[in-house]
Amino acid sequence: MLVDSHCHLDVHHFPEGPDAVLERARSAGVGRFVVIGVDERGAAARAAVALSERRSDVWATVGQHPHDAVALDDALQTELRALAARPRVVAVGEVGLDYHYDHSPRELQATVFRQMIHLAKRLGKPLVIHTRSAPLETLLILEEEGARDVGGIIHCFSEDRAFAQRALDLDFDLSFSGIVTFRTAKAIQDVATWAPEGRILVETDSPYLAPMPLRGKKNEPSNIVHTARFIAGLRGIAPEQLSETTSDNATRRLRLV
Ligand code: NI
Repeated sequence: MLVDSHCHLDVHHFPEGPDAVLERARSAGVGRFVVIGVDERGAAARAAVALSERRSDVWATVGQHPHDAVALDDALQTELRALAARPRVVAVGEVGLDYHYDHSPRELQATVFRQMIHLAKRLGKPLVIHTRSAPLETLLILEEEGARDVGGIIHCFSEDRAFAQRALDLDFDLSFSGIVTFRTAKAIQDVATWAPEGRILVETDSPYLAPMPLRGKKNEPSNIVHTARFIAGLRGIAPEQLSETTSDNATRRLRLV
């Protein structure tokens, strides 16, 4: 059974509620789910934690997304710290830098990113990293803050082989979303072909980034089968093997027990 190592199930994306979405995914062969608890004011974190404490096939992450760095005040910081310490929360994330959209000032994004790395280190939990249009800045902060102590995942990997190598050296695994299936994603496909077997994961990042042939539609965890099949094809292995490998990797990295 596949693991969707990164999905957003917020109720404004899925008005039918998370259980219906997860049952569809289970029917498609996806057995376990890491639900990302990030939004501006902590509601997504609360919902993800509650879902993970109610369902044995769901684990949660908690963090402050770089888009919302500007919204992180002391009260929210305190709440996120408490939520992140809960046993079903397996990582701090997604956190990082987004210099593409620049929804929050860059300096503030960097400050919040560093705070989130400190939180992960204090809790001894891995990090889930969001990085867009800021590859070198992201790596530099991970290095400066000693993120290697906890390691983690580069979510929705969309960089090149040089970035991948540095991330792997910092003990970050590479998680591939539907983007890898896009015809123009040659550099990402190169990394998905080359990356060490023990260091790759798959994710939907639902409701975003539906894989081919569903590109442009609302994405959901059941669609991860398309991404997994595509990567198996790139690597010249059976889909079942890719499924087993990536599930083992996610289980080990995020301690999904
Ligand atoms: Ni995400």
